Amino acid sequence: MRANSLCITMVGSFLTAILWAQPPQTAAVANRIAALPNGIEISQGELHEQILALRDDVLRVRAWHGDRAPEDASWAVLASARHASTAVTPANSANHAGFRTAKLFVDVDERTLEMNVRDSNGNILQQDARPIEFDGDAFRVSKTMPLDEHFFGLGDKTGPLDRRNEAFTLWNTDAYRFQESTDPLYKSIPYFMAFRASRALGVLLDNTWRSSFDFGKESPTAYSFGAVAGPIDYYLFYGPTPKQVVETYAWLTGTPPLPPLWSLGFQQSRYSYMTQARVLEVAARLRSDRIPADAIYLDIDFQDHNRPFSVNRAAFPDLAGMIAQLKAENLHAVMITDLHIARLPAQGYFPYDSGVAGDHFVRNPDGSVYSGKVWPGPSVFPDFTRRQTRAWWGTLYRDFLRDGASGFWNDMNEPSIFDSATSTMPLDVVHRIDEPGFAPRTASHAEIHDVYGMENSRATYDGMRAIDPDTRPFVLTRATYAGGQRYAATWTGDNSSSWNHLRMTTPMLENLGLSGFAFAGADVGGYAGTPSADLLTKWFEVAAFQPIDRDHTEKGTGDQEPWVGGADHEAIRRHFLEARYQLLPYLYTLADEASRTGLPLVRPLFLEFPDAASDGHPIDLDAPGEFLLGPDLLVAPAPNPDELDDYSVVFPAPDWYDFWSGEKVTLAPPDPPAPGAPDRTVRYSISVSPSLARLPVYVRAGAIMPAEPLIESTSETPSGPLILRVYAGEKCAGQLYQDDGRSFAYEKGAFLRERFMCEVRGDRIRMTISKREGSYPAWWKQIRVEIYGWTPSKNEVLVNGAVVATQIDRTDHNVGFHIPDDGNASTVEVR
Ligand code: NOJ
Repeated sequence: MRANSLCITMVGSFLTAILWAQPPQTAAVANRIAALPNGIEISQGELHEQILALRDDVLRVRAWHGDRAPEDASWAVLASARHASTAVTPANSANHAGFRTAKLFVDVDERTLEMNVRDSNGNILQQDARPIEFDGDAFRVSKTMPLDEHFFGLGDKTGPLDRRNEAFTLWNTDAYRFQESTDPLYKSIPYFMAFRASRALGVLLDNTWRSSFDFGKESPTAYSFGAVAGPIDYYLFYGPTPKQVVETYAWLTGTPPLPPLWSLGFQQSRYSYMTQARVLEVAARLRSDRIPADAIYLDIDFQDHNRPFSVNRAAFPDLAGMIAQLKAENLHAVMITDLHIARLPAQGYFPYDSGVAGDHFVRNPDGSVYSGKVWPGPSVFPDFTRRQTRAWWGTLYRDFLRDGASGFWNDMNEPSIFDSATSTMPLDVVHRIDEPGFAPRTASHAEIHDVYGMENSRATYDGMRAIDPDTRPFVLTRATYAGGQRYAATWTGDNSSSWNHLRMTTPMLENLGLSGFAFAGADVGGYAGTPSADLLTKWFEVAAFQPIDRDHTEKGTGDQEPWVGGADHEAIRRHFLEARYQLLPYLYTLADEASRTGLPLVRPLFLEFPDAASDGHPIDLDAPGEFLLGPDLLVAPAPNPDELDDYSVVFPAPDWYDFWSGEKVTLAPPDPPAPGAPDRTVRYSISVSPSLARLPVYVRAGAIMPAEPLIESTSETPSGPLILRVYAGEKCAGQLYQDDGRSFAYEKGAFLRERFMCEVRGDRIRMTISKREGSYPAWWKQIRVEIYGWTPSKNEVLVNGAVVATQIDRTDHNVGFHIPDDGNASTVEVR
């Protein structure tokens, strides 16, 4: 132990509770403090800590030993964010050095380099529980953990939505048939949100090495994060609202691109549709059974001996012809293209030959090309951290794109290696880094492992754009890292056909959404195993309200298409897919929002309602299983979907409508707290009885939700009016985003945005429709307005002050009428 410093204690293990419980030793004062225009640098012996304000609400904390700071480069954080800077005001006190921004107050104990961050009112936001600990190259940062702090994020780790009392390892792993206790999984997203007393704070540890996060498993009073090596480099960003934290995370790591509209339709997959004939048969059945659908997947058996970028011509004699037939049925083809390239020297296998010619494969430390076994047998692996290799990889898509494929699926990219003790590459495999911002250098697999899958999906995305610059790529990746949302959508990997897996899907997708991945799904029906007809039906229902809705299953399991199990089941599944398709204008408007702000489609309740509980805890803890789709739809599957008992649906606010019937939900007033008991929550709830054909879904009062007449594929143009469902209530508003759904023309103004507002004034409702923004032409000329929760007394509709000849129709729970919509601003009054 170095005598002058408690903080650079070299501990043999992180189980240091006993050590730290001992009385503090006399600590030396920092030997150097430098106030910087945008922060502070403080050193103690060999240890340096730099805290910079990138914005008033965003700090970057770096610490290192020795003279040279670690390379200032990142796979995750955008250069624009990393180089951002804001001026700070120094604020020092006895033994403490620090600074203020307009939103944060940072102070560092000069004796220990422990950091404390407060908001401008002096509330502690984050506090080091002890100095940074080191163990060789490994480090650990520990923060105090108040009793009422809750944690979210880290991608799709399993377990409860709240990560408190859990610990996780980040190391991309092929976790076939993962269960609730399985860790690590496929992705590594070293970012979490801490939420306490209605206020949120984000932390991103930008370190690609094997890392771990502990939210109270080791200590009930501290949470911690660290890695086995690599830089201590983390970002701390304050909301106060959780939405602001999500948006700041997007500022740091990027937003997902606007996906092609078809990818929000229903997608049908299995491992594998073995022949061209079978693919076309499934397509024909989707159409003859009137199942709304947009895509069919080709899994590895369309390839020759599972060799990526090849085609089994015996089973798929006319791939281009088949894809054209699918297109004629309004279905897109998504093809799997795994990253392992079969090692087939001198056999005319182009991906191998051209990869060798371009020196694109990773090598062993002795200079030989690394080879590992995967589906095609011995395989070699592209060096995706090189620009040239990514560019070469991208060119491999030319033929499939020419054949008409619309999307690509990057699987096995942890990377997964068969017959190896670690299921992945040896840690000493050598990658080369050739990337703007990084010094050209080599790096061990231990450093690159967790970003390898992301760089694979990046190469695919960029390759598709290079070949067809005007079409939005769709890439689905299994492994990824923080920032991977810039290139690909994702799914949760090899789940199982069980009720518990259906239940687990919701928190996984919610946490993925909070972690940047707005476009994510889980295999509908489960991958491993065959679902009962009831389970498959219920899974269809829930997935209809999740961003990527893909039915997929493993080889050797029973069929899992929407019709499996009989006509009654199929009718229910169709009904839910139809509801999804009618809501596409709402879904796509959310997709646009995600691409601009990073806000996810599937949201935990606390993201929209951080103040729902009077003590500021996340209301989701009282509402297991529930989730929001966008700001307005609350989906409430049973918390344990196989149980037959009635269950409570908890609402984060008082006023809601039943999505299916349009009826206003009558909520029991919250129970008063027992005498003397703290008023912990504000709860509105109802009891519902589960039933197979029903999924409780509610709409927030005040929502104006755009919808459209039913189509069976997004290739169709809806015919008839745009539908606006107006749910009378406070803050009544909504919006609509549209474009061609496929190109980048929207970036040059070819989009359409319309905003809606409404106000109930006694016996009249006034609605304003904004002038359309953008040049994309609307498919409708009329709007059908449906108003829920309010009835007119005169049956009169005025547009811009003039009574329009319109008929008001009434059902039990709404009144409906048509108005013209020519794109100009208008005011609609109903009385
Ligand atoms: C593993 C993937 O997770 C699964 O979805 C796929 O079907 C198989 N690989 C075969 O490609």
